[in-house]
Amino acid sequence: MTGVLTLYRSSIGKKAAMAITGLLMVLFVFVHMIGNLKVYYGPGGTPEPMLDVYGRFLREMGYPILGHEQGLWIARLLLLGAVGLHVWSAIQLTERRWTGRDVKYVQQKTLQASWASRTMLRGGVIIGLFIIGHLLHLTLGYFVPNFKDGAVYLNVVSGLKGIAPWLYIFAMLPLGLHIYHGLWSFFQTLGWNSQRSTELLRGLALLVALLVVVGNVSVVLTAMMTTLPS
Ligand code: HEM
Repeated sequence: MTGVLTLYRSSIGKKAAMAITGLLMVLFVFVHMIGNLKVYYGPGGTPEPMLDVYGRFLREMGYPILGHEQGLWIARLLLLGAVGLHVWSAIQLTERRWTGRDVKYVQQKTLQASWASRTMLRGGVIIGLFIIGHLLHLTLGYFVPNFKDGAVYLNVVSGLKGIAPWLYIFAMLPLGLHIYHGLWSFFQTLGWNSQRSTELLRGLALLVALLVVVGNVSVVLTAMMTTLPS
């Protein structure tokens, strides 16, 4: 335990913490995007819309070993812990960079690193605001006409109208950039970026980021264009 804390106090330790927590979040966002694609099944399907089936799966995760929503709460706490550690490490690393307590790079690298880290920092703030707004919107039902707990398909289709879908689409740009740069940094932190694998790993980071952005944007556009029978 003391060893882990000592490692965390170093810049390398904080970068490793950011890499591991970041990977956990990318996994969540990717699986969540695949779940969101269930909007394509429309309002029919099994007795209830497939998107609602996905919502119920989240609530019943781990059943019967775990009770109703217990698995979901474990996942929420894990995710919240990951977000907290990710943000905290980012703040500390930025502070070190600004006060000059971090490793110095040669000039060209400093320019590249500071452009990327500034973009990551601003993007991270936008993504944080998006997540807060998104939870208030589609989990708690603010600004969703006739919001009904568990009726995920109806909530998504009636909630993504007016300005809301455009805000979602706008947020996907920093999210995509963050995932691309974050995954690439993850590979570098692990030291996987040998000369031969660099292009492959960059391509993999780009592919994951594009799939998340294109998948989510297509879901938002579909919900936006769907009219509910009155
Ligand atoms: C852009 C398209 C997206 C759509 C249509 C969408 C839709 C939804 C819906 C309907 C819920 C509520 C599920 C339920 O009540 O069972 C939800 C929850 C959530 N979404 Fe999204 N989402 C999108 C993107 C994202 C992104 C990009 C993130 C993260 C960066 C995200 C993070 C979350 C989180 C953390 C929850 C709460 C899960 C929980 O604790 O129950 N979503 N989303």
